[in-house]
Amino acid sequence: MLKELVLKNRSFRGYDGSFQLSRGELLELVDLTRYTASTVNAQPLKYYIACEREEVEKILSLTLWAKALKDVQLPHPGMGPSAFIVICQDMSIGSGTTRFLRDIGIAAQTILLGAVEKGLGGCMIGSFRKPELKELLSLPEEIEPNLVLALGKPAEKIVLTEVSADGDTTYYRDENDVHYVPKRKLEDLIL
Ligand SMILES: Cc1cc2nc3c(=O)[nH]c(=O)nc-3n(C[C@H](O)[C@H](O)[C@H](O)COP(=O)(O)O)c2cc1C
Repeated sequence: MLKELVLKNRSFRGYDGSFQLSRGELLELVDLTRYTASTVNAQPLKYYIACEREEVEKILSLTLWAKALKDVQLPHPGMGPSAFIVICQDMSIGSGTTRFLRDIGIAAQTILLGAVEKGLGGCMIGSFRKPELKELLSLPEEIEPNLVLALGKPAEKIVLTEVSADGDTTYYRDENDVHYVPKRKLEDLIL
C-alpha cells in the first residue's frame, strides 16, 4: 500500500488544465503535516495555499521546471497545475536556514503522498524567484518561502527506469513526451 503510493508519487510536470482543486482539499493535505516529525518539535513551518487560477498563473511564472530538459518548456501551455502550496519557514519560531530543511522535506513528501492517495499528483519546486514570490504573496518579513509544491490532476506518463552502467541519473523525455526517471538499484544504495 505505502509502496504503491510511493511509486505513484512522481514529479508531475503536466496536468489537466481544466481541473480545479478546492481550498478545502488543500487544507486537508496541509493538515497531515501537523502530525509529522519536527526538529526539537519547534514546528516552524507555515503554508500559503493558492488555488485561484489567476494567482496560480502568477506563481507559475516565478517557478522553473525540469531544468535538465534544455529544449522543452514545461508545463506545456494549458497543462499547468491547479494549485500551489508554498512551504514557508516562520523565522520568529525557528530560525536557521539548514536546521529545518529536513522538516520541509518531511512535510513536502507527506503532502504529496496525501495528494496521490486522493488521485492527484504534484511536483516539488525548489527553483523559484524567492523575492518576487514573497512580494506577490505579501508575506511578512519573518516568513521565508522555501519550497513550492505544485498540485493537480496529472496528465502525463512517467516511467521509472534503472540507472544505466554509465551512472547517469538525468531524466529525459521521448518524442511522445513520456518522461523517464532513472533510479539506482537497491544494491547500489547499501553501504
Ligand atoms: C527538494 C526538491 C526540489 C526540486 N525542485 C524542482 C524544481 O525546481 N523544478 C522541477 O521541475 N523539479 C524539481 N524537483 C523534482 C526533481 O527533479 C525530481 O524529484 C527528480 O527528477 C526525480 O523524479 P521523481 O520525483 O519523479 O522521482 C525537486 C525535487 C526535490 C526533492
